[in-house]
Amino acid sequence: MTTIRSDGENTVSPPDQDHPDDVVRLYGTTPRGRDDLWGRLRERHGPIAPVELEPGVRAWLLLDYQENLTALQQTHLFSRDTRRWREAVEGRVDLAKTLPMMSWLPSALFADGEEHARLRAPIMDGVARIDMTAMARTVRGIADELVDTFVTRGETDLVAEFAGPLPVLVINRLFGLPDGYGHMLGDLTATVFGENAARAEEALERMQQYFAGLVARKAENPGHDLATWMLRHSSELSPSEVAYTAALIISAGHIPTTHLIGNTMRTLLTDDRIRSTHTDALLSTQDLLDHVMWTDTPFQVLAGRIALQDMRIGGARIRTGDALFVGIDAAHRDPAVRGHSDPDTGLASGRRAHLVFGAGPHSCPARSLGRLIASTGVSVLQERLSGLRLAVPPEELRLVSSPFLRGLRELPVAFRPGRTHDPLPPQERQMEQVPALAEEEEPPEDLLGRLLSWWRGLHR
Ligand code: HEM
Repeated sequence: MTTIRSDGENTVSPPDQDHPDDVVRLYGTTPRGRDDLWGRLRERHGPIAPVELEPGVRAWLLLDYQENLTALQQTHLFSRDTRRWREAVEGRVDLAKTLPMMSWLPSALFADGEEHARLRAPIMDGVARIDMTAMARTVRGIADELVDTFVTRGETDLVAEFAGPLPVLVINRLFGLPDGYGHMLGDLTATVFGENAARAEEALERMQQYFAGLVARKAENPGHDLATWMLRHSSELSPSEVAYTAALIISAGHIPTTHLIGNTMRTLLTDDRIRSTHTDALLSTQDLLDHVMWTDTPFQVLAGRIALQDMRIGGARIRTGDALFVGIDAAHRDPAVRGHSDPDTGLASGRRAHLVFGAGPHSCPARSLGRLIASTGVSVLQERLSGLRLAVPPEELRLVSSPFLRGLRELPVAFRPGRTHDPLPPQERQMEQVPALAEEEEPPEDLLGRLLSWWRGLHR
């Protein structure tokens, strides 16, 4: 049994009696030290390894770059519809109760073919309507406001106070709501993806109420925002489909962007060569993000594709209905695509595109927005926090406990206390940014307003 431990070490122990096959557990632990782990798996199994999602629930993990790319692109061979998963079809797994990554929801993420195109079109068209220049100013404005909350203290946890809230506050503005709703939503998504299963279930229910409330409010009072555009889109999504789509946008957009910012800041704070190449302007912020996405990817494993026919991959016999996981981090370490790091700069030198935004029909529709949020966030931190340094030894930084995501639980830093930012005059802000709406003293008595009142009550 290959055991992936969460203490920074991976041990590959010989097969034991309970697990006669060499199977990697994808639950309860966090893969680290992966060069070694993926390399050993590749050596032992070739391009694909057997994994266990839950005790007794089997799937496959793709290791090689080309096989991962094929699973993402070849939709006649691999489905995204988890209802086709044999474990579910034969009743061994209840999709409503399994890992969120393997559950099924009526959204673009779990659809194939024409149905996928119908559900994805409003997202693509909505994202295309975003004025990226105005959005850049919005992101900067929100980032500055977040820095203002801790800049005078000289210390902070960059995950809790910056990388966590920034993406969700930005996406919340796309829905045309005051920031208070964004803070509530950030809290809910962090709990849904958190480690406490009971709290996650409750938060998921609240999130569903949240998006139903959002759509009901926008149907009643349309605005210039993503939810209104999706309601009016020619794909004619039902209000419930718009609510699931809005929930998908938040769940797909928030946490990966948080981890991209956190992992990039960790790289800058711990890797002298990368930091100096960047501060000497030899490495742009976008190239820095790509380096981090190759080497410290915010998504290390992507949830399931379902085999649509029997096939062989390497030495493995895949049966129709088997679940396959996309091993992004393993693919990035495939010797066939990844040259050695540049000896002068230490930069990753992949000869192919990294897979962090996926590939094929489900590839991230908002990668430019994700990049914009991350690059602006990183730049604002560098500009505003002088003498920025880690407040703990690097080996004390802990990763979130997830086989899918790779990011920091916290990033404690210290810096020279600075001044809060002079905001733009209000008229200028209105012209140049997606406007911040005034906070409601008394939220309206609709479902969304009642949820906000409930959440404020918890945080008083
Ligand atoms: C650095 C940040 C981000 C990363 C690394 C990322 C990565 C990804 C990946 C890998 C997929 C493909 C999932 C799959 O094939 O199973 C995806 C899909 C998606 N992403 Fe992103 N994403 C990021 C930011 C965002 C943002 C900011 C948004 C929205 C505002 C967003 C919205 C979506 C949506 C809606 C999908 C589903 C598309 C579909 O199934 O057709 N993402 N993302």
